[in-house]
Parts: sequence; structure tokens; C-alpha cells
Amino acid sequence: MRVVSGIQPTGGLHLGNLLGAILRWVRMQEEAECLFFLADLHALTIDVDPQELRSNIREMAAALIASGIDPKKSILFQQSAIPAHAELAWILQCTARVGWLNRMTQFKEKSGKSREGASVGLYTYPVLQAADVLLYRATHVPVGEDQKQHLELARDIAIKFNTDYDVELFVPPEPYIPAGAAARIMSLRDGSAKMSKSDPSDMSRINLTDSDDQISQKIRKAKTDPEPLPDDPALLDGRPEAKNLVGIYSAVTGESVEQVLSRFAGQGFGAFKPALADALVALLHPLRSRLEELRNDPAELDRLLADGSARAASLGQPVLKQAYSAVGLPR
Ligand code: TYM
Repeated sequence: MRVVSGIQPTGGLHLGNLLGAILRWVRMQEEAECLFFLADLHALTIDVDPQELRSNIREMAAALIASGIDPKKSILFQQSAIPAHAELAWILQCTARVGWLNRMTQFKEKSGKSREGASVGLYTYPVLQAADVLLYRATHVPVGEDQKQHLELARDIAIKFNTDYDVELFVPPEPYIPAGAAARIMSLRDGSAKMSKSDPSDMSRINLTDSDDQISQKIRKAKTDPEPLPDDPALLDGRPEAKNLVGIYSAVTGESVEQVLSRFAGQGFGAFKPALADALVALLHPLRSRLEELRNDPAELDRLLADGSARAASLGQPVLKQAYSAVGLPR
């Protein structure tokens, strides 16, 4: 079992990242060989401020370590430090089909109405993502639901490459997506939109950097409906905001949705929201304290990333070499 996953260093960590991916990465590093990386090449696909990107890379490395990623147990690295990612991505762009990329829903969402004006990188983004996991022959890729389609593409690319060149080089990766609400944490302002770094309203998400008071305030102001909580989870269907908040409570405390509802059934959000805010503060407060400490030593963060990048490079190199060789470009 080899685990590989990445996160874009655009902005800080939010609750969706944590529950959908990062806290599972933390658990998996006890059982498997893990590689986790900052997808900084992916961050270039939308407009970036170079200065901001540079500081976001360190900030995200610190946030991952504060959340429990242990650079001694896992290989923590920066994608752009390893040229093999971009090199393999080129080879795989020649395997992937335009029709496959045309089906990618994230490109449609992110490019919006200005498709003609979107970067070519935004379009080929999923092929770079395929290279990220195929380079290390990952078997499991822990991600939130929104990345499922990209990983299915990675599987298709792996299978087509192996078939076209009659090799058994690439391992079709398995997406490893949480059960329940954690797979897709929704915005606090709109139960039909995903919680995301790109939402202009900061009230829509809980950030790792939010103070205890900000967390309580965001939960207090989170959109809800006037009905009390039901006793049956099926009755949350059609109530997306209520369902999201109950799902967050369940994901944070580890209780099932049934257990949560059995405690809060019949009560309104006036009673439920403070309990949810307390559970979030209990989860996030210690992580935030660690993050504040880690920030004080940027040289150590750079050193940890450089060390992780060297280790990842040596794992990826033989696979890249075999890929070149398979297509007729032996080195
Ligand atoms: P990114 O940076 O958008 O998000 C990082 C991880 O957080 C998950 N996530 C969520 N999970 C649940 N609810 C949400 N609201 C939510 N928002 C984000 C994402 O699913 C992801 O697991 N393309 C990837 C980065 C990437 C990658 C890879 C991932 C690049 N190469 C290779 C896996 C393997 C991305 O933009 O994730």
C-alpha cells in the first residue's frame, strides 16, 4: 500500500480540507508508506501573486504539520521541487484524450463563462494530477469527493498507457473518499455549495487560523432553517444546511448521524449550534496553537520540505525513466 495525495497552497487550510482529506492522511501515516505534497504547480493554473504563493507554501507546510502530518513518518514535499512531475505530465498528456478532459466538471466550474480566456494549464490540470500519483505508483489516494473524477481519469490514463506500450508500469490508483458528510463539507452560507478557499465570503468557511470567537460567530451566523432537528437522518434530506451542520458535528466528534440526532432531536439550532461550536473549538484550538509555533521557524520548514523533496525525487526517478523508455526515449 502506497498513499499519495496533495493540496494546493492557495490560502490556508479550511474545515473541508481537514475533514475531507488531511485528518485521514494523518491516520494513514500510521499504516502505510505515505507521500503528501504541496501542489504548487497546480496553483499556477489560476492567477497567482508570486509573493503570496511563496509565503503560502511555507504556511501550508506548517498547517499540515500542525494538523498531525509527521515529516518523520511521511514524505512531505513540494511538487515543483521535483521536475519529474512536469516531465511525466507531458508524456501522459500524449496518452490522455481531449474527449476525456472535455468531461472534467471542475474545469467547467473553474473556467466559468470565460472558457476561452482560461489558461491551458487549467484544462490539462488533471493530467498533471495523474502524473503526481502515477509517478509514485500510488495504490490509495485519500481525497474529498470533488477529486473523484480526476482520479478516475488517472486510472484511465494508467490503463491506456500500460496497454498502448505493453508495459505494467503504472498502477491504477484507488480514490479513498470518506463515508458521510466529511467527503463534501458544504459552505456555511449555502448548503448547495462546497466549502472552498475561493468563496469570497470568509463567513462561508471555518479556517484553521480562525480564533475560538470567530469559530463560534461563524457557526452562530451559519444559515439554517426554522425547524427543530428530526430524529431520523432521512428527514434531513431537503434541508441542506441542517444536514451539513449535523454532518460536520458527526465528522468532528466521530459519532454517527443517528447518535447526534438522538441527542438533539426536537431541539432547535439555538441549542445545537453552541454544541457544534464547542466541538470545533476542541478540534481546532490545539492545531492552531501548534501552527503559531511552527511559523516561528521558517528555516526549519524549508529544511523539512527540502529533505522530503529529496526523498520523493529518488522514489519517482526510476518510474520516470521507465516511462521514457516505454515510449521509445531511453535515457
Ligand atoms: P485542494 O487543494 O482543492 O483540496 C485538498 C483536499 O481537500 C479536499 N477538499 C474537501 N473535502 C471535503 N469537503 C470540502 N468542502 C473540500 N474542499 C476540499 C479535496 O478533495 C482534496 O482532497 N487537485 C487537488 C490537489 C492535487 C491532488 C493531486 C490530490 C494535486 N495533485 C494528486 C490528490 C492527488 C486539489 O486542488 O485539492
